[in-house]
Amino acid sequence: MSMMLKAIERRRARRAITDRPIPRETTELLLRAAHLAPSCANNQPWRFVAIDDPVTLSHVKESLTQGNYWAKPSPLILALTSKPSLDCQIPDGREYHAFGCGMAAMNLMMQATELGLIAHPIAGFRQAPIKDVLEIPPEYTLITLIILGYPTDDLSGLSEKHRAEELAPRDRRPLMEIASWNHFAPASGDKD
Ligand SMILES: Cc1cc2nc3c(=O)[nH]c(=O)nc-3n(C[C@H](O)[C@H](O)[C@H](O)COP(=O)(O)O)c2cc1C
Repeated sequence: MSMMLKAIERRRARRAITDRPIPRETTELLLRAAHLAPSCANNQPWRFVAIDDPVTLSHVKESLTQGNYWAKPSPLILALTSKPSLDCQIPDGREYHAFGCGMAAMNLMMQATELGLIAHPIAGFRQAPIKDVLEIPPEYTLITLIILGYPTDDLSGLSEKHRAEELAPRDRRPLMEIASWNHFAPASGDKD
């Protein structure tokens, strides 16, 4: 099998992490990987806030949704933020900032995986209080928080559902539900 596909398969949004500190040099390497992502006209629309200060971390963790309790041990959270004007805005309505940020996030997560880290992106948080704590200006969107941590085999901190998911194989729709040849073919079950 292709080495690249193997590396992509190794990345998982796992939840069993420890509070073992992540050195700043490691974080800088992750950010360098993110920053090598392509972007429209090389606009580089990604803005990261690396959160490793214990007080700031605990404020951010207070604004996670209940379901993201598992992120509490994380010693490092990367907030990824952007705004439309940082990237291409095509007059027919296409805006590219979130797309660019997605690619940067994936570079970062792949690099983290290669270093033996879990890097798990989440949308389950209250945006306003976290933007306040991190002093992110109003016109920026906090697109995701990437929860970082070293993995552990100890699943005792996870809910039953999450314990099962941690051990479950990859869950993906069949390939031909998300791709088609030569004309668009929406998958049955796609929402409007
Ligand atoms: C934009 C985004 C938001 C997500 N939000 C959450 C979240 O709030 N909590 C969580 O536990 N996982 C979250 N995830 C992780 C996904 O559930 C996970 O990527 C998906 O189930 C596929 O699993 P895999 O990444 O291991 O292949 C999020 C992923 C993405 C890309």
